[in-house]
Amino acid sequence: MPGGHPKAWPHIKDIFQSIAAKSEGEACCEWVGNAGSGHFVKMVHNGIEYGDMQLIAEAYHLLAKGVGLNHDQMAEVMEEWNKGELDSFLIEITANILKFRDEKGEPVVPKIRDAAGQKGTGKWTCLAGLDFGIPVTLIGEAVFARCLSALKDERVVASKKLPRPSVNADSVIQNKRDFVKKISKALYAAKIVSYAQGFMLLSEASTQYKWSLNFGGIALMWRGGCIIRSRFLGDIKRAFDKTPDLKNLLLDDFFVKAMTDCHESWRDVVAAATRLGIPVPALSSALAFYDGYSSDVLPANLIQAQRDYFGAHTYELVDKVGSWVHTNWTGHGGRVTSNAYNA
Ligand code: 3PG
Repeated sequence: MPGGHPKAWPHIKDIFQSIAAKSEGEACCEWVGNAGSGHFVKMVHNGIEYGDMQLIAEAYHLLAKGVGLNHDQMAEVMEEWNKGELDSFLIEITANILKFRDEKGEPVVPKIRDAAGQKGTGKWTCLAGLDFGIPVTLIGEAVFARCLSALKDERVVASKKLPRPSVNADSVIQNKRDFVKKISKALYAAKIVSYAQGFMLLSEASTQYKWSLNFGGIALMWRGGCIIRSRFLGDIKRAFDKTPDLKNLLLDDFFVKAMTDCHESWRDVVAAATRLGIPVPALSSALAFYDGYSSDVLPANLIQAQRDYFGAHTYELVDKVGSWVHTNWTGHGGRVTSNAYNA
């Protein structure tokens, strides 16, 4: 993901592209844009990587605690998933990790302390999202899930004090085979949201920094040779090739169809996880984003009214966008309004 002065690229292009991974004959390496853009794209790649890893970890948790599969069975499920729309490097290595046994012949994964580390690239992606006002919610949840996991000692104390659902998994998940299928659909749908959010951030950064990023080209760069490489990135590339100025990945016909196919299963999985007390922050926040993004009306009107009530921040009327009004809600607030600025 090289960026920098455009005059530098011809000097290194052949070297970089000859050693880069290839996808359908094309090198997964292209000049990204002016100085800073290559690093930014790599940072978002890592943020998406955090999201993918968290989603797979949540699927693993559901398969183990919800469906009751052992590690070999879970590895088989992941191997199966790796033959379809979820085909990716991270699913492939997860299958290998799950079936890996130590010298005693026991699975290694349950012996690993459940406290995740991080070097910070996911956090930087979230900070960029906050700076640009782009809701990269799934990556945010993935970063915070690692932070929460790292509070291991505190969690152990809390697990002995706080009430947990007493419902039996078998009563919530009656058809296990069907539920495994639903988990794969939930994973796929949430992954689409995660990438849509990542590309929203890239799009905003491209506008702010005047980078003219090529989103199809970025999808191709991630298609092979990196941690988030997957079949799905080919679909993203096709969407941007078809519509280079696509406003949001979720609006492309291919992904509309995918969501049509997956969203009911996704809801079932999040509902079952909630009933069983299995935390699914990435799966559920992605669903909340999806429901918000696909709603023409949200309750932000009430937030605007509250802001105006306590701080005279003013609000716009539905049928008069662009003109800001204040209501004297209490009868004694006068006509004073705060100065209008938005963070
Ligand atoms: C790496 O740089 O090794 C990974 O891409 C991200 O590492 P992290 O999960 O420790 O942040």
